[in-house]
Amino acid sequence: MNDIILKVDHLSKYFALVKALDDISFDVRRGEVHALCGENGAGKSTFIKLLTGAYEPTKGTIEFEHKAYEKMTPKLSMDLGISVIYQEFSLIPYLTVAENIFYGREIQKYGIRNIREMNQRAEELCKEMGVDLDVKTKVCELGVAYQQIVEIMKAVSKNARFIIMDEPTAPLTINETKIFFDIIEKLREKKVTIIFISHRLEEVFELCDRVTVFCDGRYIVTKDVKDVTKQQLISYMVGRELTESYPVNTAEKGEVLLEADHLTNKRIKEISFQLRKGEILGFGGLVGAGRTEVARAIYGADRILSGRLKKNGEAFCPASPRDGLKHGIGLIPEDRKRQGLILGMSVKENTVFSIYDKCTNVGVIQKSKVESLVDDYIKELKIKTPNREQIAKNLSGGNQQKIVLAKMLATNCDVLIFDEPTRGIDVGAKQEIYALMTELAKRGKGIIMISSEMPELIGMSDRILVMSHGKIVGELERTEYTQERILELASTEKEGVEEHE
Ligand SMILES: Nc1ncnc2c1ncn2[C@@H]1O[C@H](COP(=O)(O)OP(=O)(O)OP(=O)(O)O)[C@@H](O)[C@H]1O
Ligand SMILES: [Mg+2]
Repeated sequence: MNDIILKVDHLSKYFALVKALDDISFDVRRGEVHALCGENGAGKSTFIKLLTGAYEPTKGTIEFEHKAYEKMTPKLSMDLGISVIYQEFSLIPYLTVAENIFYGREIQKYGIRNIREMNQRAEELCKEMGVDLDVKTKVCELGVAYQQIVEIMKAVSKNARFIIMDEPTAPLTINETKIFFDIIEKLREKKVTIIFISHRLEEVFELCDRVTVFCDGRYIVTKDVKDVTKQQLISYMVGRELTESYPVNTAEKGEVLLEADHLTNKRIKEISFQLRKGEILGFGGLVGAGRTEVARAIYGADRILSGRLKKNGEAFCPASPRDGLKHGIGLIPEDRKRQGLILGMSVKENTVFSIYDKCTNVGVIQKSKVESLVDDYIKELKIKTPNREQIAKNLSGGNQQKIVLAKMLATNCDVLIFDEPTRGIDVGAKQEIYALMTELAKRGKGIIMISSEMPELIGMSDRILVMSHGKIVGELERTEYTQERILELASTEKEGVEEHE
């Protein structure tokens, strides 16, 4: 077990003045699941990019299977059997599972793609990995969990011996999580080494053998998971004691801000609720229950087929997200990287993107006004960036998410919909976002929070609506909250709910 597969020595990566990684030395053993933890911007993804040859180290060496390299190249790293599973998938949606697994390495017969052979090999692979999947299904028809699994199978089929998962567990349903965990066990049996990056510490404890912590680009510690508590791990990460607690929303609940009356479209059915000023209304349910679809309908991203919406007592029907924004409804989307940001633009441009018209004086953009506004948000949200002109692409994942938040706050909407607000956000920053939500409530905003993190849903909501199969199946008051009660409602079977696909 103590055979070392990877050893890094004094590994560093500087970007001008930013020391993304500074003098990192530690090792990874063959066949272990090794967690990499640290706050947003700690250097985790940068470390991975050095291993895959996407970046060259500024200093230090990488030793893989006892051979030292001054740098990796993408080809070398692939030849060594190193594979990365990113959160943004690289699969081709309209190709089948089998075609995706063998993409770029198609099996041929007489110069023609041999689909039968590919299907057969993919099926064998599924069997070997204990995955129940029709390999002829198009990838776009699969849920996130299975897409992730296809990515892993693709890596396995390439003989990957070292798989890196950078925040792999997008929200999975309970069943999916189990499938995913089973796959990790299978990989463990096959002696595949795994580096696992996740902000969900429960997963680290459930899945991993050892954990390494980075803080501000520096190496802090490597521990056996069984020798460390969650509290200790958090304090290694943030460099201080931090308790996981939720602020109490003391905002006074005012008049009804938003009212949904029997909203129905292809994916949701008869959704009715009221949101008051100062209220944080939680939406619970399993992934795919239709919560994001409710948000999209309110925000104007999806059409409503029947039912009505009222804002401050007046009927409205948002025709587009832009229109929704005009009515004061802002969405902080679940998939922030794809929906919320323009990666090639700066922090400043992204933040003020939606509000340029508010920063103009007779058609001329007031530069100083824009700049001080952006600086305020960088400070308020503690966005880790050298300055406001930094390109969004160069920030860490968690900090990119904070920019999307800043952009929405800048629009000054009075209804804010947070879809999975703390996904990909580190423990410390989570608390900042919670504090921000209660502060917004205090300022009289109405907040809708969709969350699959049970403690967060229970800790932050004034009231919880539980959804299942496109319908609201229960409403819980604070005194009625328990994880079991919510899960029980969320798993309400389809009975009584008509199919409306
Ligand atoms: N190409 C780049 N140019 C300039 N700075 C960069 C570049 N890439 C990364 N950085 C900086 O390096 C630091 C580490 O970033 P990295 O993406 O490795 O963090 P992370 O630990 O993966 O964080 P998260 O949990 O938010 O994904 C950050 O401060 C980031 O802004
Ligand atoms: Mg990252």
